[in-house]
Order: sequence, then structure tokens, then C-alpha cells
Amino acid sequence: MKKIVIAIDGYSGCGKSTTAKAVAKALNYTYIDSGAMYRATTLHFINSLTNITNPREITKSLDAMKIEFHKNEVTGFQETFLNGLNVEKTIRQMEVSERVSDVSKIKEVRTALVAQQHRLGKYKGVVMDGRDIGTVVFPDAELKIFMTADLTIRAERRQQELLEKGDLVELDKIIQNLAERDRIDSSREISPLKKADGAIEINTSYLDFEDQVNNILELAHRQIGDK
Ligand code: DC
Repeated sequence: MKKIVIAIDGYSGCGKSTTAKAVAKALNYTYIDSGAMYRATTLHFINSLTNITNPREITKSLDAMKIEFHKNEVTGFQETFLNGLNVEKTIRQMEVSERVSDVSKIKEVRTALVAQQHRLGKYKGVVMDGRDIGTVVFPDAELKIFMTADLTIRAERRQQELLEKGDLVELDKIIQNLAERDRIDSSREISPLKKADGAIEINTSYLDFEDQVNNILELAHRQIGDK
């Protein structure tokens, strides 16, 4: 059966990853969380005390970094590993969230991570979510989705997610973090967040999760040509 690439881009916290995971599961595709790669890089820079204003230090630090995804056999989902350690939880913490947009602006970081994303999606059959997947990483993706949602709704969802992981964070702090990340992600010089040519926009503010996933699956099956 024909395999395709599904690119899902959009603002922070509008449900890209949960949607992408569900779509990948239904199609038996691999889900790749490109944001996790930027988060793992940020954690690596924090751990190794990398001075992110020094390009030589950045390059050296990137050479000593290995990001991998391994499937958790219990949940069936991919988890992020940094230099052999499972960092899936750590990379979602506020300390990383507060710094990740600044790390994502760095040219050397984007070049390294986009190259790895190309390798991961080479054989298709992937759902990749992020900010530049439809515009830069896979501009020829057969299906491109651009997800949006109201800021307060996104913050409430993120607060709930953090709470489920045992992290109680004030709503205002989350709103500020999301707004600031939107601003930096959309205005940065390299690969800013924007709707890709040919992308289909989905506003998830008042959409039922199941409908959201089914909409994308219908579009995917049309591209695959099996329905
Ligand atoms: O999807 P996320 O919120 O986990 O992503 C974390 C940060 O990584 C986000 O603020 C911007 C950056 N990012 C990016 O620049 N390009 C991507 N393709 C994915 C994420």
C-alpha cells in the first residue's frame, strides 16, 4: 500500500502531538515528535552548560549529543532518549519549555535536527509534528495540516497535562510561556512557524478530539487512495 508523509504544524499546545499520535496509531505509521528533539537539545545544552551564544561551543556540544526514539512496549508510544537516557519526562518540564524557543532559533541546531528528521522520514509512513515540517522539512508531504486553537484553551489543556504528570503550574505562567513561544517561533529568522503552502487549517478550540483525528484520517486515506 502507498505510504505517505503527514506533516502537522501549529502553535504550542494546540494538541498537535496527541492528534499526531492517534493518527499514526490508526494508520500503523511511526509518530515523530520533532519538538521533543528541540527539547532534548535544550536539555543537553543545560546539562553540558553550553554557552548558546558561542557557535563553536554549540557545534562541539551538538557533536556530543545523540537523540533517539525508542518504543515503550507498554504504551506503544515512542519515547525520547538523550545520550542513552530516557528524558521523555524531563524535557516537558518548565525549565526546558522556558528555554527551548531560544535554542530553536540557532542555525546549527536546526541544520542538525532537520538532517535527522529527513533520515527518520525517508521511507515515509510517518506522522511528524512541529513548526516547520510542512514548510521546510517535508515541503512535498502528501498531507499537511496546520493546527490552531485559542491561547487560553491551549493553556488550560497544557495545565491539565502537567497536572496529570504531578506538576501544578499556574495558568498565567503557562499563558505567558505559550504566548512568548508563539512570538519567538513565528518571528524567528530561520524556518519561522507559518502555514505551509497547501496546508489544511484546523482550529481545535471547540473540536471534539475524536472528530479532529477522524478529519485528518479521512484526508490521509484520500491521499493513500485506499478509501
Ligand atoms: O512542540 P513542542 O511545544 O514540544 O516544541 C517545543 C519547541 O521546539 C517550540 O517552542 C519550538 C521548537 N520547535 C521548532 O522550532 N521546530 C519544530 N519543528 C518543532 C519544535
